[in-house]
Amino acid sequence: MGREDEEEEEEEEEEYQQERETDDDDDESSASEEEEESESEEKWRKHYSSRHRILLVGEGDFSFSVSLATHFGSARNMVATSLDSQEKICSKYSNAIANVRELEERGCLVLYGVDAKTMSQHYFLSTQRFDRIVYNFPHVGFLFREDSYCQIQLNKRLVKGFLRNAKLLLKKEGGQIHISHKEGHPYNKWDLVKKAHKIGGLVLTQSVPFCKDDYPGYDNKRAHGTLSDASFHLGDCTTYMFSLA
Ligand SMILES: C[S@@+](CC[C@H](N)C(=O)[O-])C[C@H]1O[C@@H](n2cnc3c(N)ncnc32)[C@H](O)[C@@H]1O
Repeated sequence: MGREDEEEEEEEEEEYQQERETDDDDDESSASEEEEESESEEKWRKHYSSRHRILLVGEGDFSFSVSLATHFGSARNMVATSLDSQEKICSKYSNAIANVRELEERGCLVLYGVDAKTMSQHYFLSTQRFDRIVYNFPHVGFLFREDSYCQIQLNKRLVKGFLRNAKLLLKKEGGQIHISHKEGHPYNKWDLVKKAHKIGGLVLTQSVPFCKDDYPGYDNKRAHGTLSDASFHLGDCTTYMFSLA
């Protein structure tokens, strides 16, 4: 190789290194710009804002959380929880692993083994306060016939326990607890609103129709038995919103 060729090769190498450095700089600045942008720009999905600190309780395959997270961009404002262990949700739901990965990549904290009836004593949650605490379609599982006294009592106990605990984790200023629930028999026998009044310190501020289509990607899950991964018929349903009295 002649002297000229060597010099030309050295110049090319130098140019290549310079280009790489410039590319790296560009990547870094665009990634951090994107991050800053998604944090500063407020985004709403129905009742939920990217500026709210949101606790999701009793998630199934975490698809409701993912629906909010993908819309917000960043999910650092969210804590998504399930009563089940990680192993259990992986065996119950076909999309659980992908959904949890998506949430964690967006900065959501995912917690397992969180019981709605005792969550105010949870080692981490007890240190936190939330703007929105959301439990979609609470249900203990199909232990008795859906319209039997025992089944209704168990479901009522779950709702009561959730409300009691959620109340303690709510921000005093503007905090809201949301329960979405099916309408009609036997669901109206749960006396959800009465329960909240009995607990004390909570008021029903609004009840609005719940529409699954408002949350693209959300797949409401039966969560129990051999058909855990199947969705259930929603029909008419309502989101009940409670705040501190
Ligand atoms: C009908 S499924 C609804 C699941 C999910 N929220 C959805 O909308 O797809 C009822 C959920 O309540 C959960 N669950 C039952 N008892 C609970 C408890 N004590 N604490 C937290 N979650 C509970 C079940 O694990 C299940 O995920």
